[in-house]
Amino acid sequence: MKRFAITGYGKPHDVFETITDQPREITPGHIRVAVQAFAVNPYDISLRSGAQQEFRSLKFPYVMGNDAAGIVTEIFPGETDFAVGDRVVIHPISGTYGQEVVLPNKKAAKIPETMSFPKAASIVTTGITAYNLLFELLQVDSSQTVMVLGASGGVGSLLVQMLHQNKNHILASAAQKNEAKIKNWGADEFVAYDTASPAKTFFEQADIVIDATKGSKSADLGLKILKPGGTYVALNELPNPADRKDGTYLSFAPKKEYQDQTAFEYLLNAYGDGKLVVNIAEVLPFELRSVILAHEKIAGHPAAGKIVIAQS
Ligand SMILES: NC(=O)c1ccc[n+]([C@@H]2O[C@H](COP(=O)([O-])OP(=O)(O)OC[C@H]3O[C@@H](n4cnc5c(N)ncnc54)[C@H](OP(=O)(O)O)[C@@H]3O)[C@@H](O)[C@H]2O)c1
Repeated sequence: MKRFAITGYGKPHDVFETITDQPREITPGHIRVAVQAFAVNPYDISLRSGAQQEFRSLKFPYVMGNDAAGIVTEIFPGETDFAVGDRVVIHPISGTYGQEVVLPNKKAAKIPETMSFPKAASIVTTGITAYNLLFELLQVDSSQTVMVLGASGGVGSLLVQMLHQNKNHILASAAQKNEAKIKNWGADEFVAYDTASPAKTFFEQADIVIDATKGSKSADLGLKILKPGGTYVALNELPNPADRKDGTYLSFAPKKEYQDQTAFEYLLNAYGDGKLVVNIAEVLPFELRSVILAHEKIAGHPAAGKIVIAQS
């Protein structure tokens, strides 16, 4: 089977290679899935560059990727949760950049007939993160005013929509060009960070500030918008302790006790009910050069929306 691997840390065109792997044997509690679409995340860019070496050392060739959707091609005898032919979304620990993955069945969920594989692949890390941040870490209350910084992003776009479903008052910021989409997803108020002053308009209005920008670009802004005593959550770096005002400061990270099935159930039901829009920027062909291109684009500041690689 064909897979897109990195042979070391470095620039995309230097380290990505197509490899042929033998299919893995299937063990109890696992399913085999033929990948139809996989999404690329900002984390993949940092993993490939070597920025994560200190925390996670890789054995090369390494096939990265956590977000995909596909078709079940084999189940372990006696398996009842899935059947061969099921269309599924999957969240394995690695290996979605390729034709096939074997993974624990608790890391998969059936998708609605109306959902395309690229759309399903686009709500894996983004959707699970948004769900766990709001409903597990924060246990957000609908009376709270929430500021989403990076509201146009993969995670931010889903935070806005989930908060809207939850009836929160939502303040949002992103680039001006993304205003219409973000309001459409349910933001009550929007101020662009590149043409106006969200800090001035939203000064000390938010009970909760979520910094969902890539690489925590908005700490100064977030601190000004936070009410004294409020809660500040970052997907990356928290503001410098010396700059913080009175409040609770939380760094979001995945935890063992967060169950993918719970998040998938919420996301897939919302999608099936027409209450979740999945923002895709580009669907690229299932080729090595698409993987390289996706990594090059995401390392910069691409148009809002997921970049997905899909079988034709
Ligand atoms: N801790 C975790 O478990 C976890 C999980 C998932 C993601 N993350 C991290 O969270 C971040 C967001 O992930 P994502 O998948 O949503 O990324 P994404 O889709 O690339 O979104 C990036 C967001 O950052 C904004 N942004 C980019 N440059 C900016 C700047 N200079 N100033 C202000 N905003 C800027 C973009 O806004 P515009 O395009 O509108 O400018 C966009 O809203 C990434 O750093 C990712 O690695 C962490």
